[in-house]
Amino acid sequence: MKIFVDTAEIEEIKTAISWGIVDGVTTNPSLIKKAVDKRQGKITMEEYIKEIVKISPGPVSLEVLGGNCDKMVKEGRLLYEKFSKYGKVAIKIPVNPSTQENDGLEFDGLKAIRRLSSEGIPINVTLVMSPEQALLAAKAGATYVSPFAGRVDDYIRSKMGMKIGKDFQKDSYFDTERIQIIAERKIDDLINNSKSVAEIYNDAEGWKFWELAQDNGVWSGVDLVAKILQIYRNYGIKTEVIAASIRNPRQAREVAELGVHIATLPFEVIQGMISHYKTTEGMRNFASDIVPSYSALFDQK
Ligand code: G3P
Repeated sequence: MKIFVDTAEIEEIKTAISWGIVDGVTTNPSLIKKAVDKRQGKITMEEYIKEIVKISPGPVSLEVLGGNCDKMVKEGRLLYEKFSKYGKVAIKIPVNPSTQENDGLEFDGLKAIRRLSSEGIPINVTLVMSPEQALLAAKAGATYVSPFAGRVDDYIRSKMGMKIGKDFQKDSYFDTERIQIIAERKIDDLINNSKSVAEIYNDAEGWKFWELAQDNGVWSGVDLVAKILQIYRNYGIKTEVIAASIRNPRQAREVAELGVHIATLPFEVIQGMISHYKTTEGMRNFASDIVPSYSALFDQK
């Protein structure tokens, strides 16, 4: 699995590169703005992005702002021309730029992907929340698709009535096995109390929890990644999947278990991946156990 670092903080990018684990960088406009603001006018946004592109060992995803096809194509070309001379760049295009239902822009993301990718510009399709969107994005020519795992978990938890900050934290692991056990028990009750299969099938109230605990058959962000990978494998689709909106080390591990091509990880998630209580304890034990004759091996003359 390739690891991209999901940050615009140059110091974080450099540190993660020094650990030898970075294959690319993903950013978004708000992350870049926050990082540039911290420099208090000492660097322009253009210079800042140039620096990120120069230091990154792999593609840096830069996002367009436009909400329709023509604007996205114009901005995508501009970003690519401006920065691809300093390193590898991918242009981030939202899979569907609509801001409300039926605004006529639903397919503008796909159109922009097709136009830019046919010019040889690598496209990272962002805000992917369903396997269906990922299939269409790949057909339109996406180099990468970015399913937002954490946000799908947020959505399912909010459907179930859980509140962020109260019932769970942004970085809490979402245990879907637990949810499925609860859902199955509720269905057992339904089955035991119904007379016919038709009655069970049509009992909207009885199935309520089952429906709330998923998003149209997707049980979690990790499950979304699994379904996209399965569809791509079915058809030998070459588009690479970037597991995005990853909030904790266990989620990073689970997408690795699925064989995802890339995970883009916030700096703190990478930090969390290296820690284990028993490793630290082991080091403490080694340190307190040093044999003087062994340590003498390292004495310099
Ligand atoms: O990788 C996408 C990321 O920047 C958004 O993450 O945690 O805000 O959903 P998050």
